[in-house]
Amino acid sequence: MDRIQKIGSHLSPKVAVLGAAGGIGQPLSLLLKLSPLIGELSLYDVANTPGVACDLSHISTGVRVKGYLGPQQLEVALQGCHLVIIPAGVPRKPGMTRDDLFNINASIVKGLCEAVTRACPHAWVAIISNPVNSTVPIAAEIFKRAGTYDPAKLFGVTTLDVIRAETFIAEIAGVDPCQVHVPVIGGHAGVTILPVLSQATPRIQLSEERLKALTARIQDAGTEVVQAKAGTGSATLSMAHAAARFAESCLRAINGDAAVLEYGYVDSKIVPGLPFFSSRFRLGRNGVEEFIALGPLSPLEVKGLEVMREELLSSIKKGVDFAGKQL
Ligand code: NAI
Repeated sequence: MDRIQKIGSHLSPKVAVLGAAGGIGQPLSLLLKLSPLIGELSLYDVANTPGVACDLSHISTGVRVKGYLGPQQLEVALQGCHLVIIPAGVPRKPGMTRDDLFNINASIVKGLCEAVTRACPHAWVAIISNPVNSTVPIAAEIFKRAGTYDPAKLFGVTTLDVIRAETFIAEIAGVDPCQVHVPVIGGHAGVTILPVLSQATPRIQLSEERLKALTARIQDAGTEVVQAKAGTGSATLSMAHAAARFAESCLRAINGDAAVLEYGYVDSKIVPGLPFFSSRFRLGRNGVEEFIALGPLSPLEVKGLEVMREELLSSIKKGVDFAGKQL
């Protein structure tokens, strides 16, 4: 029996949150503590994890919680993990782009991924730390160098873009957001976030001008939060929910459900020339098991795909180059 089958039969995966004491890490850890799909929650940060772990451990659910503090405890935290979620790093302040975070967060993600290769090389890894368009290619390079890369199990979490699109469309259509499905493809920054509004259900009938405005709002929604928080951080609560939703999909698949459909920024061949791309896929025990075709795009969306190409490719290259220089 291979390792993942064993994991599935246990039905109590171990999940690590790296950056667990942060703005996203804390509410995400709370949501994961409430999950019936998790056996053990391993909370790692360079500050404050003992307090966060102690606090959460008093909640009367079956998830065992342990806190780990500082680099000397990182590999112990990761031992035996099936899913590693990484929200470690600095968030944006007003006026910053996600790419402005590169210098600090690239090194943080690199260090954490190196530890993953040593402590839990078969784990699924979900990266939240921005710029996701670059941090995921960095992680891929680190895993390739260690000989542990499994492209089907490395994800950039773009679920927040999906839930924002669902919410904004529900407002326009006057329906419950639970009834909305809308593909969001590409990457996770500015114009690389492409909501495929022509495929939204329920169907929305908007003028081209309003379609452009809605697309822009979904693309800039993160900045809306950064501005509203006025220097105290970026999206944390909605992101925690988004990451918990993504984690639930991963855990259902790890536990043997082979019909889980999700979006994420992954190693992909779906758009020629863009080696990482977010689109819909089916998860199973082996990670991404099938890519779902993009389907027909409207002329506006075809243009959006072309517009993002250069920026996405350059962010991917920036990540690969960074990892290469660290050799
Ligand atoms: P935060 O500053 O509140 O928390 C970050 C945490 O990471 C802190 O607790 C810090 O101690 C920890 N940390 C720093 N270096 C670390 C290391 N080497 N190892 C482990 N932990 C370390 O930031 P917040 O708001 O939680 O955001 C975290 C990241 O998530 C940012 O890069 C932000 O841009 C990104 N983000 C991504 C989104 C997405 O949709 N993918 C949405 C919103 C934010």
